[in-house]
Amino acid sequence: MAHYAVRESPPLRGEIPIGTSKNAVLPIMCGALLTGDDVRIEKPPQLTDVTTLTSLLRACGCRTHQEEDALVLRAQALCNPQDDADVRRMRASVLVLGPLLARLGEARIPLPGGCAIGQRPIDQHLKGMSALGARVSFDHGGVTLTGRLRGAVIYLDMPSVGATENLMMAATLAEGVTRIENAAKEPEIVDLSAFLCSMGARISGAGTSTVTVEGVPVLHGTSWLPIADRIEAGTMACACALTGGELLLRGARAEHLRSLLFKLSEAGVHIQDAPGGLRVLGRAKQPFEIRTMVYPGFPTDLQAPMMAVACRTPGTSVFLETIFENRFMHAAELARLGAHIRVENRVAVVEGTPFLTGARVTATDLRAGAALILAGLCAEGETTVCDEGGHIARGYAGIEEKLRAVGGRVERVEEP
Ligand code: UD1
Repeated sequence: MAHYAVRESPPLRGEIPIGTSKNAVLPIMCGALLTGDDVRIEKPPQLTDVTTLTSLLRACGCRTHQEEDALVLRAQALCNPQDDADVRRMRASVLVLGPLLARLGEARIPLPGGCAIGQRPIDQHLKGMSALGARVSFDHGGVTLTGRLRGAVIYLDMPSVGATENLMMAATLAEGVTRIENAAKEPEIVDLSAFLCSMGARISGAGTSTVTVEGVPVLHGTSWLPIADRIEAGTMACACALTGGELLLRGARAEHLRSLLFKLSEAGVHIQDAPGGLRVLGRAKQPFEIRTMVYPGFPTDLQAPMMAVACRTPGTSVFLETIFENRFMHAAELARLGAHIRVENRVAVVEGTPFLTGARVTATDLRAGAALILAGLCAEGETTVCDEGGHIARGYAGIEEKLRAVGGRVERVEEP
């Protein structure tokens, strides 16, 4: 167990290297199960979610080894996982279903866990697999899919990121052509598609609402460098918007962050494309309105960091969360620091205040934890962010070191 000790910090200045994207790496790791050859993932982020998924892939018979700057996976002797613990620990583990089913004709996992930010059903994943010809049955808290897959037309009721990824992977080895309609368009889906194509898959339309997959009999090994983490970059941009100063986010790509960049500009923060990254300059001065949406709308994963910004920005900011039904848990924690926030169902209204004061707060989920660290940077005195669930390290590699390198006063304290 760890907590983060955060003290009021001067304006952040300097350069922050942005790591490879957690949400791109996790599906890509699952995609490695689609071949018995070596798949080399370059510069994987040092996150506990990556470690947990590596352990699950090993339970699926995948051999893994860590090289200096790469993770090499080889799923020659693939099988269904016997040990449930890793699946229960993380939501993204549901992404092994598609590859297992496509290669073995059978997949079984317990119903997955993950962040406590809503119900997070997997009905769209299962509906799609069933359209591809799988029989779906539930027993003892798990789900089993069996059958040889054939191409089909699948219409998703909502553009689910995970369902689009899972179905895209399953369809790569199905017989015939699959069309996924109302697909999600996130950059991580485009990266997964390009990765699968580098293994010999035939996919077109990733990044649009219709993805077409022409099944092939086998896929081969590859080497892949995943895209930079737009959510880590966005979180750091919010840190700058809170403290003022100037940050170069090395590796960040403006085209993946348009919605955040527009909102920060509306708030008075300057953002410029710079060689090798993105430059963020100055503090947020005006309030803003945020409606979370599927890509290219404002990402739900940046709602909490932006709420931390709103707490210190003069005027009234409004948040509407449309993706998850229970994603304002950080509001009560921010209020302990003196923030003025009113939550009604899926709406939060934030009155900016000139002062926050340090307190003991709890990271209720991954992005909430990051938001509390950011708020602590501009709260008088010391803020202790308790992270019993280890949420923050699931998605931010060395957040304390990265912030410290640009002047942030943050320490991670391991507790016995
Ligand atoms: C992914 C991201 C997560 C991000 C989310 C939304 C990864 C590993 N995680 O999660 O960081 O917050 O996208 O951008 O990439 N839904 C259903 N049925 C389904 C699937 C989803 O009702 O079968 C609902 C969910 O409950 C949620 C919404 O659809 O309300 C979006 O979920 P989805 O896009 O699937 O998110 P994840 O892939 O789980």
